Amino acid sequence: MSSYEKPDPWSLRAQREGYPARSVYKLKEIDEKFRLFRGGQNRVLDLGASPGSWSLYVLRRYPALDLLAAADMLPLSRRFDRGLFEGDNFFFIQGDFTSAVVKAELARRGPYGTVISDAAPGTTGSRSVDTLRSLALAEEALAYADAYLVPGGNLVIKVFQGGDTAELLARLKERFTGARGFKPAACRGGSFETYYIGLGKRATLEKPKDGKVRA
Ligand SMILES: C[S@@+](CC[C@H](N)C(=O)[O-])C[C@H]1O[C@@H](n2cnc3c(N)ncnc32)[C@H](O)[C@@H]1O
Repeated sequence: MSSYEKPDPWSLRAQREGYPARSVYKLKEIDEKFRLFRGGQNRVLDLGASPGSWSLYVLRRYPALDLLAAADMLPLSRRFDRGLFEGDNFFFIQGDFTSAVVKAELARRGPYGTVISDAAPGTTGSRSVDTLRSLALAEEALAYADAYLVPGGNLVIKVFQGGDTAELLARLKERFTGARGFKPAACRGGSFETYYIGLGKRATLEKPKDGKVRA
């Protein structure tokens, strides 16, 4: 077992507290710092949801939600959910969220008050390839936010640092009254993932200071 695969304190804590993955502590920290799920925003979209820690966090922490819709190419783990993934306020679709079929299913359950995306590509070992693929997924998540996030809504996107992430952050700034990068403590030491947070979606795009329009 390589040191990367060794169970670490975050993974052990996740097992103890009934979550399939350590990633739950990233969302928890982001939520506690930025208060992602504020009153009145009663529908949430979770992109790249498997094995299901973020979905479980949202369902447990906000049981009065009208709906949490989630998508992933892989199935959810049923080890810890104790029936929550069968509740009336949860919808999961297994498939590629960039596909027309999945988009249509998620679109008709929106609009959403918060969109969260922890989606990540399978890593190849080539940082430049992985970064490009991660950026493409982040762009897709932003397109979901453009189409199905309500004005005032919040967005979290995972990105691998490098490449044109500065451009992505600039686009978030046009769309949200607050936008910034944030790396939770539970990210693995040495990992190049981080999260971009958009708070308070603007009703219309703000004209960028450099005058360039970003579609
Ligand atoms: C880091 S995991 C997400 C962990 C999850 N947030 C949790 O807490 O359990 C990243 C996920 O993104 C999914 N993914 C990547 N690209 C996707 C795509 N185009 N459509 C659907 N899921 C995708 C992968 O299958 C993987 O399960």
